[in-house]
Amino acid sequence: VEAPPKKTTFGPLADQDRIFTNLYGRHDWRLKGAQSRGDWYKTKEILLKGVDWILNEIKVSGLRGRGGAGFPTGMKWGFMNKPSDGRPKYLVVNADEGEPGTCKDREIMRNDPHKLVEGCLVAGRAMGARAAYIYIRGEFYNESSNLQVAINEAYAAGLIGKNSCGSGYDFDVFVMRGAGAYICGEETALIESLEGKQGKPRLKPPFPADVGVFGCPTTVANVETVAVAPTICRRGGTWFLGFGRERNSGTKLFNISGHVNTPCTVEEEMSIPLKDLIERHAGGVRGGWDNLLCVIPGGSSTPLIPRSVCDTVLMDFDGLVQAQTGLGTAALIVMDKSTDVIRAIARLIEFYKHESCGQCTPCREGVDWMNKMMWRFVKGDARAAEIDMIWEISKQIEGHTICALGDGAAWPVQGLIRHFRPIMETRIAEFQQKDQARA
Ligand code: NAI
Ligand code: SF4
Repeated sequence: VEAPPKKTTFGPLADQDRIFTNLYGRHDWRLKGAQSRGDWYKTKEILLKGVDWILNEIKVSGLRGRGGAGFPTGMKWGFMNKPSDGRPKYLVVNADEGEPGTCKDREIMRNDPHKLVEGCLVAGRAMGARAAYIYIRGEFYNESSNLQVAINEAYAAGLIGKNSCGSGYDFDVFVMRGAGAYICGEETALIESLEGKQGKPRLKPPFPADVGVFGCPTTVANVETVAVAPTICRRGGTWFLGFGRERNSGTKLFNISGHVNTPCTVEEEMSIPLKDLIERHAGGVRGGWDNLLCVIPGGSSTPLIPRSVCDTVLMDFDGLVQAQTGLGTAALIVMDKSTDVIRAIARLIEFYKHESCGQCTPCREGVDWMNKMMWRFVKGDARAAEIDMIWEISKQIEGHTICALGDGAAWPVQGLIRHFRPIMETRIAEFQQKDQARA
């Protein structure tokens, strides 16, 4: 297998290696190495330009949240820009990366932790935050250790803490490790957990911007979103806007796993065609493009798309919504024709059933039902009419729960039925034939 090209040749990224990341650890991730690559450069000037200037650059850049939902970042951070009512404000970084297939934030924290620490300071300034809490997935032991080293170095160099970078702005950064619950990646469950309670999602509104951690105005933002902010401020919002296309700007980290020759994490321009992404960076599909069955494009919550769609779809928010799926965490799970796609989706539903916090009935009961039914579909031990029944259950879950975990469980089932219903029907018919033969 040929090694994938290290350099991209797509659009404006041609002739460059990576834009804001140093994912491959080819350089020293400690402070000196980070500074030699441009991190912490003119951070004081950025801070002194003030809240409105930073918010404006982020708005101009068109940056949308990189955790999965794609909410406009400038607008979200702007919700914090209200007159003070005496409560301190906080930035909470969601580093509880648990979406199956997704490990992009892990790469940043492992190989480029100073990007995140500097990002906390710049984003925190834009929100007038007193401190940042980085809530990191418990399993990311090495990453939390690297992050803590980077934070210690930043404190020792006067970059954060009292009078951060000599700007007159006081800002602290704390790391808190999670304990292995997927649901704590949901922002309000994360806040509960940070407060020392059981990680169960809260009803929204109120949004964290009004009532967040310790009852104070809070923005919960994804690692990648925060880490790219200093680069945007240094190079300008219009520079970032120049990548991708309207409403889908910038560069993005993509994880590519499954049946590809060289699974990888890569930073690429938004709106790159899915096929190009896999062929340029992941060495192509195992057995060639014609051997592709389907792809889950944005982590386990996004519905799969069959090969016919994969031929032309663009990897961005709008392209994937048009294809009745989503960009989600931009983690592609590639499945070739050897895959039992019914079993693959059944396994995902089992995961959601296990991770449901059980607070709301449609999720607790509905996902449990879907799980039981999916495992019968795997064997074919079902009636054809039950395909419509599980579709109906998924529709009763979607949009009727406190948090997005319910939707995340419903959508993969819908994707399976939308594109692979004939395979499900054939499996049922074959099972019935064998059953009759046995009788
Ligand atoms: P959401 O759309 O409810 O919220 C997005 C963000 O915008 C939140 O921070 C929310 O507080 C803010 N927001 C939205 N409307 C607002 C308003 N009117 N006022 C103030 N703030 C507002 O989506 P959510 O539940 O945060 O994320 C769901 C996505 O997360 C899924 O689509 C999935 O792709 C992704 N996900 C990512 C995981 C990971 O490991 N990175 C794990 C699981 C899911
Ligand atoms: Fe809990 Fe599921 Fe309801 Fe989310 S949707 S609050 S995980 S029961």
